Amino acid sequence: MLNYQELYDKVNLYIENMPYNAQPEGLYAPIKYVLELGGKRIRPVLMLMAYNLYKDNVDDILPNSIALETYHNFTLLHDDLMDRADMRRGHLTVHKKWNDNTAILSGDAMLIMAYKLFTETTNPQMMKAVKTFNAATLGVCDGQQYDVEFESRNDVREEEYMEMIRLKTSLLLACALKIGAELAGASPEDADSLYQFGEKMGLAFQLQDDLLDVYGDPAVFGKQIGGDILCNKKTFMLINAFNRANPTQKAQLQEWVDKTDFVPADKIQAVTALYDAVGIKALCLDKIEQLFSQSLECLAKVKVDESKKTELKAFADKLLKRNK
Ligand code: IPE
Ligand code: IPE
Ligand code: MG
Ligand code: MG
Ligand code: MG
Repeated sequence: MLNYQELYDKVNLYIENMPYNAQPEGLYAPIKYVLELGGKRIRPVLMLMAYNLYKDNVDDILPNSIALETYHNFTLLHDDLMDRADMRRGHLTVHKKWNDNTAILSGDAMLIMAYKLFTETTNPQMMKAVKTFNAATLGVCDGQQYDVEFESRNDVREEEYMEMIRLKTSLLLACALKIGAELAGASPEDADSLYQFGEKMGLAFQLQDDLLDVYGDPAVFGKQIGGDILCNKKTFMLINAFNRANPTQKAQLQEWVDKTDFVPADKIQAVTALYDAVGIKALCLDKIEQLFSQSLECLAKVKVDESKKTELKAFADKLLKRNK
């Protein structure tokens, strides 16, 4: 079994050597820029790890796994535009370094490149995997739409938030694992258990992302701290801060959510102080822990030797304790 570092190196090496259609440069330079900015490469690594539970030679599906990373990076170009985010992986976002139109069209090209990378194979299970991929990629759009609609709603419930993050984030992690299993010819039961493992892990992963958006170290996290607070994102933290606040705190929180004219740093500081006052960090960490153990219960159902699951378990554990 290959470990995270070995798979991460394979993914990066493949990306470094990817042939970019150089012209028009305005279209392809941003693609090269974002793909080479780094990132944790979670989705291709998960796909390769799932494949590796059944087959030794992960190189057989390496180009297909890069499709997931290309797709993920496409979503980031559009997501950063939608979230008005200036920083990604410690650098300017594509729409800031270039412009909005570049983020749209280079993103579109990446979506197509992803499907190209995904489908160029003779693997007999490919059609099954394409269907799995399609279900996830359309679901991500559903999730993104909810995420944006929730910004202007004040009655979003925790269950609605959980469903939204399942769609926007979990589906891709879950499908990465399922596709890896499908391409390896695993049983449908195993492929589904791996999918469920990814789904729970993805929920915990997005909760950790939301937590880092408030409490992360900007130099390490690589994104602007407080971006979700500024956008009035209805995160687990904001929803539960309202639930836990006393009447005075509730009024203060609502005032910041409603305010249209403010100094960004003041809003971030005030909302974070309210989170601290009602103990949101601990609540969020508890929820992450709970989802992590649920994810392991799904992994336990996969019918391969327990020793083979070590890398996936270690990876999930590391992911949920990450600081970037
Ligand atoms: C960012 O994904 C978007 C979310 C779903 C939270 P990652 O945290 O995997 O970003 P990179 O690829 O490592 O930069
Ligand atoms: C990410 O959600 C979901 C997708 C990119 C589809 P976020 O908006 O929280 O991701 P970051 O924090 O910008 O990476
Ligand atoms: Mg974002
Ligand atoms: Mg977003
Ligand atoms: Mg985020």
